[in-house]
Formats: sequence, structure tokens, C-alpha cells
Amino acid sequence: METVRIALMGAGTVGSALAELLPGHRARFAALGLEVELARVLVRDPSKSRPGIPAGLLTDNPEGFLDDVDVLVEVAGGTTLAGDLVLQALEMGLPVVTANKALLAERWDELRPHAEEGNLYYEASVMAGTPILGALQSLWGNQTLEMHGIVNGTCSYLIRRMEEGASYDEAFQEAKSLGYLEADPNLDVGGIDSAHKICVLGRLTVDPGLSWEKVMHRTRGIQHLTPELLQKARAEGYAIKLVASLFPEQGEWVAAVRPVRLPESHPLVTLGSGRNALVYKGDPVGPLVFAGAGAGGGVTASAVLGDLYRALLGLPGHQPVPSAAPVPAQAAEPFEEV
Ligand code: NAP
Ligand code: HSE
Repeated sequence: METVRIALMGAGTVGSALAELLPGHRARFAALGLEVELARVLVRDPSKSRPGIPAGLLTDNPEGFLDDVDVLVEVAGGTTLAGDLVLQALEMGLPVVTANKALLAERWDELRPHAEEGNLYYEASVMAGTPILGALQSLWGNQTLEMHGIVNGTCSYLIRRMEEGASYDEAFQEAKSLGYLEADPNLDVGGIDSAHKICVLGRLTVDPGLSWEKVMHRTRGIQHLTPELLQKARAEGYAIKLVASLFPEQGEWVAAVRPVRLPESHPLVTLGSGRNALVYKGDPVGPLVFAGAGAGGGVTASAVLGDLYRALLGLPGHQPVPSAAPVPAQAAEPFEEV
């Protein structure tokens, strides 16, 4: 039996859900000849008790955190310390599993060579447990035409609850208790989390060098949406959704995030209300729809664990599209911005 030692950075919503899932997989790992154990767990406050994690494994000291480990799982968030440790691990040749889309979007220039080598695993970073990254990699044989997604669970949930009559504050507290919010919820409601995600998807699908700054430049959030505005749209047979899109515009691939008004029959409304959904259009595959839960501890931890299996089996992580895809001449689906 080979022992695999995991350095786990973060034991909040996702990290603690992962620690709960791991024991149930011991027998399956053992069948692969692997004994998987947590070596140490990096948090801000090691005095806080964390069910399923022995207190002796908790540390707030990043020095030596990666000593004698075989894999780093980063579920802390942020782009500074998390980014430095992820890069340190990759430079040591360790596989890294992360759910951190902010890091992937904003420090891509440093991460990209490691992702291209297949050492970076990040299925959980977009749509959480709904497996979109692997699916998009399997679509490289198509001419991508456009894609549009509801990729932020918080905004999707807030909009659905306000349509149902809840106030913004009530809906926000509910989303918080469900573990949907980023540590800084302005990332959610400001559209920035969706921008991080469409940036990750774009690099995987059409342009490995898609610029984060350009995506941010075309990003708006939902702060101006009120229950009245959302309910009025519904009464007229429409729904307002925060949609992240990737589409051709004037000979370039463009990514944008903004609230749009969609007919109630649109798949992003029928499948994406309260959760995540994405419509991909390619040639020759045609339109495809992916939908499911896009936030929450267990849902996200399931994708982290799936990546851990792949890393331990020596399968490659999520590589960006090998070269920029041609920009189609045909115009994308028109949307009415709100
Ligand atoms: P969280 O509940 O806020 O947990 C963050 C964890 O990281 C906490 O244990 C925290 O320690 C630790 N941490 C944060 N900064 C640290 C630092 N500088 N040094 C040491 N430890 C630090 O966040 P989460 O919801 O689990 O999300 C974690 C990551 O997964 C983020 O990148 C997020 O974007 C991503 N993600 C989350 C979801 C979701 O549904 N929640 C879904 C997909 C992806 P303390 O506990 O001591 O504060
Ligand atoms: N805060 C994020 C969301 C978590 O609401 O979608 C999942 O990435």
C-alpha cells in the first residue's frame, strides 16, 4: 500500500465537506493500492474545532506546509497566499487540486505553463460539482460559436428567491447559510465571480491567453435588481438572469457578464433558475445544455475529490485549449441587457 499525504489549504465550507467525504472513499482508494491521509491543514484560526479534522493537523503557519506531502488541495480562496503556495507546490512538481477561480483567472500567466503540463486540476472552480470543464475539453473537435451561462449560484439563488417574494436581505442570509457566498460577497453580486469563471471556461475552449482585464472591463453585477423589477419581468413572460457569455464580436472572442432579460422558455431560465446552467453552441455538435448545482460545500467537494482521483491515478489535469480557435463570422444570440 502506497501512502499519499495531502496538504489541505482551507477547512471552511468546501474543505470541511471534503474532510467529511474522504473517509467514505478509503476503501476505494485502498483498492487502488493507496492509503490517502491528511498530512496537515492550513487555516487562519487553528483553535477553531473542525469536525472530521484532528486538531493536531491544523496549522496557521505556511512555512513547511508542503514538506513531505504528495499533493496540495487548495480550497482557501484569495489570490495572494493561496497563489504563492499553489505555485510553490507546482514548482516542486506536486499535482495541485484547486477550486479557486479567482486565482485561476487573475494569476493565469504564472499558472498557465503548469496547467499546460497537466499538473493543475480545477473542475470545482466553475459550476462546482456540475462537470463542465471536462465536457468543454471534449468539445475541442468543434468550431465553438458561442456559450452563455448562469455560473454564480449566489446570484441565481438571490434572483429566484426575490422573484418568489423574498427581500434581498432574507435571500442573502439564506444563500449565506447554504454556503454559497464568497468570503467577499461583492465578488458574487458584483458579477466578478462569474467573470472569473467565464475567463476559465474561455481559456479552456477558445483562447488559452484570454485576458482577465478585458473580461473585467465587460462585467456588471446584480446590485440594481429589486424584487419589483424581477417580478414585473416574470409577469411579462420574461426572467432576468446574470449571464456570463463568450461570443465573437468584430473578429475577436469577447467575454462579458451582465444581467439580461430572457424569455421564460429559454433553457437558462427553465434549467438555471436557482442553480447553474450553461448553453454551448458549436459546429457540428449544435446546441448543448449543462445544468446542475453550482455552489455549496458537498457539491463542490465532490468535484475536488474527483480531481484527486485523477491526480492520484496519474491522469492529466485541466489543460487549456492548445491554440486559439478561429473566431466565427456569424453573429451571436442577441441579449437585452438590464
Ligand atoms: P470559506 O468557507 O471562507 O473557507 C476558507 C478556508 O480557508 C477557511 O478554513 C479559512 O480559515 C482558510 N483560509 C482563508 N484564507 C487563509 C489564509 N490566508 N491562510 C490560511 N487559511 C486561510 O471558503 P469556501 O466557501 O470553502 O471556498 C473556498 C474556495 O473554494 C474559494 O476559492 C471559493 O471560491 C471556492 N469555491 C467555493 C464554492 C462554494 O460553494 N463555497 C464552490 C466552488 C468553489 P479559517 O476557517 O480559519 O477562517
Ligand atoms: N460563490 C460562488 C457562487 C461559489 O455563488 O457560485 C461557487 O463557485
